[in-house]
Amino acid sequence: MAFRGKNAVVTGGAGGIGLQVSRQLLAAGASKLAIIDLQDNLEEFVKLRAAHPTQSVMTVKMDVANKKGIEATYEEIIRTFGSIDIVVNIAGIFNDKEVQRTLLVNLGGIINSSLSALQCMSKENGGNGGIVVNMSSVVGLDPMFIIPVYGATKAGIINFTRCLGNDSFYKRSGIRFVTVCPGATMTDMFTNFTEKIIFPETSDETYKILDRLNKQSAADVSRCILNVLEKEKNGAVYVIEGKRVFPIEMKTYWTGKEQA
Ligand SMILES: NC(=O)c1ccc[n+]([C@@H]2O[C@H](COP(=O)([O-])OP(=O)(O)OC[C@H]3O[C@@H](n4cnc5c(N)ncnc54)[C@H](O)[C@@H]3O)[C@@H](O)[C@H]2O)c1
Repeated sequence: MAFRGKNAVVTGGAGGIGLQVSRQLLAAGASKLAIIDLQDNLEEFVKLRAAHPTQSVMTVKMDVANKKGIEATYEEIIRTFGSIDIVVNIAGIFNDKEVQRTLLVNLGGIINSSLSALQCMSKENGGNGGIVVNMSSVVGLDPMFIIPVYGATKAGIINFTRCLGNDSFYKRSGIRFVTVCPGATMTDMFTNFTEKIIFPETSDETYKILDRLNKQSAADVSRCILNVLEKEKNGAVYVIEGKRVFPIEMKTYWTGKEQA
């Protein structure tokens, strides 16, 4: 019951890893949960409400790429819940053939939701502070040559989240920002994978790479994300691989300071 009394928002909470995070947050006592997703997974939403009748589950059908829509969604959540303590930004897609859409959903969506969360949760605006976890990937850390567009969005998420995870922001807002980078996780994202890569000539190589990947379940990754929520380490980047979560050290190559 680690999250008893907490109000949470999960983007992409209707399927895959996001649905598991939604389930596990409710099971761990979250009192109010808002799921923002493009999909209406009515069957799962009915099950969630039936399993947790004394907790509130709000579902909003919204595209995270829609900046104005996300701002209005957060306003609606605050009107209904009063406050937000936890945001887990998970919504994302894989389709390297759709470059603009991938940028707008994966990177744009994380930025839209993080900035709206900052606005609503900041102590400077009357909020309680809290924690925002942003979903990147191991391929945002180390390039995987078969998926350059997806990888670029995931690398961008790490940089964006580390910027907001600077302690000078935290002192004002009371909000911690952390990044999680899971390895391969068995979800719908892998459906028709080789049809969504940008260079068809790499499809044989892609099959081989997919075959030998270390794989984990969405529930395993979700358990690690809940673990990260409890660590509350501002600016941290975590890898989730082999069902384990561990922080990684991000090396500094440039400080912006003049040479002596
Ligand atoms: N599956 C993996 O191997 C893996 C590894 C590392 C990171 N990730 C990341 O984890 C996240 C979840 O992936 P998953 O594997 O659970 O995939 P999934 O396809 O099973 O779930 C993604 C969820 O996001 C929702 N979504 C997609 N676009 C949206 C949009 N524009 N607005 C709102 N909701 C949207 C979908 O409807 C779905 O419910 C993604 O950001 C993905 O990049 C996945």
